[in-house]
Amino acid sequence: ERGGYPHFMLKEIFEQPTTVENTMRGRLILEEGFSKLGGLNIPKEELLAVDNIIITACGTSWHSALIGEMMIEELCRIPVEVEYASEFRYRNPIVTPRTLCIVISQSGETADTLAAMREAKRRGARTLGLVNVVGSTIAREDDGGIYLHAGPEIGVASTKAFTSQVVALALFTLKLARLRDMSVERGRELAQALAKLPEQIQSILDRAGEIEEVAEEFKRASNFLYLGRGYNFPAALEGALKLKEISYIHAEGYPAAEMKHGPIALIDEMMPVVCIAPHDSVFDKITSNIQEVKARKGKIIAITTRDEPSLAGKLDYEFRVPETVDLLTPILASIPLQLLAYYIAVKRGCNVDQPRNLAKSVTVE
Ligand code: M6R
Repeated sequence: ERGGYPHFMLKEIFEQPTTVENTMRGRLILEEGFSKLGGLNIPKEELLAVDNIIITACGTSWHSALIGEMMIEELCRIPVEVEYASEFRYRNPIVTPRTLCIVISQSGETADTLAAMREAKRRGARTLGLVNVVGSTIAREDDGGIYLHAGPEIGVASTKAFTSQVVALALFTLKLARLRDMSVERGRELAQALAKLPEQIQSILDRAGEIEEVAEEFKRASNFLYLGRGYNFPAALEGALKLKEISYIHAEGYPAAEMKHGPIALIDEMMPVVCIAPHDSVFDKITSNIQEVKARKGKIIAITTRDEPSLAGKLDYEFRVPETVDLLTPILASIPLQLLAYYIAVKRGCNVDQPRNLAKSVTVE
């Protein structure tokens, strides 16, 4: 049932070219630069009347929510608030009839997320579920939804559900932006970038062996930092969470520029620092952060997309991912980070599919 893979987690990581494709199937209209989302269940007028969006989720799903926030704000110009589901209910949130509450959950059964959705509904918001498990409680109770179609995710560490969540958020953003004021050309550009993802993910997976070597080098570390900016700040949080939950190594994700406000004090030659640095709009900024880390002798593991002369000799390890539009970069960056966490955990003898103290779905509040 693990399809020849030693663990479900590895199988699920390797399924991503297909699962990402499945999330887009029948939904992406390349020629029109548009997306069709049959389950949304919101009349166009009502969708256009939405003036604020709240996205609520837990764990990995909360990380995809942060990426969604950036996408929607950038392309649709609607204010978005991301809330931990467990916090949402207890702080008298501002919800109006023009609030759309997007709820993200792989399982569709997470107690905190379900409770947050019920609370949003009670306060008059329209709810939209991004759920993987068909027929789950959240999927049954939301007003409309976008199923992820990633197939069953068995490993406790969420991998393929995360990339599908980000794809679903991009499809939603595309639809809303095109209904508002995004041009056909820009719509096509995003649609084409989405369509290329499966093959790009496959090209990363084909080089998994390179990541296994990095894992061998750092498997004994007791701390890790993950840095990213813009769309890849949430990818840094997600990379750190993956490592923590399956290898029990302490790891933190930070927006790269926050280093100098405290955490840089942690850096010495024992500290591996994973820097997510694709050639996007904040690339120049992150290269200077990399130099700050290197000056303190931190060990740099960089995820990049091109040669960069200013970084020559500064990177201890470099892993290249293909280029894409800024908002999709966290999808490609997260694949090597999933692999890194996986290989380190396996090399440390950890039970990757069922880490200690964790359950696949957290049905207690
Ligand atoms: O099923 P959900 O997406 O609602 O689950 C939310 C979190 O419990 C989940 O993402 C958790 O953080 C994973 N173990 C992360 O890998």
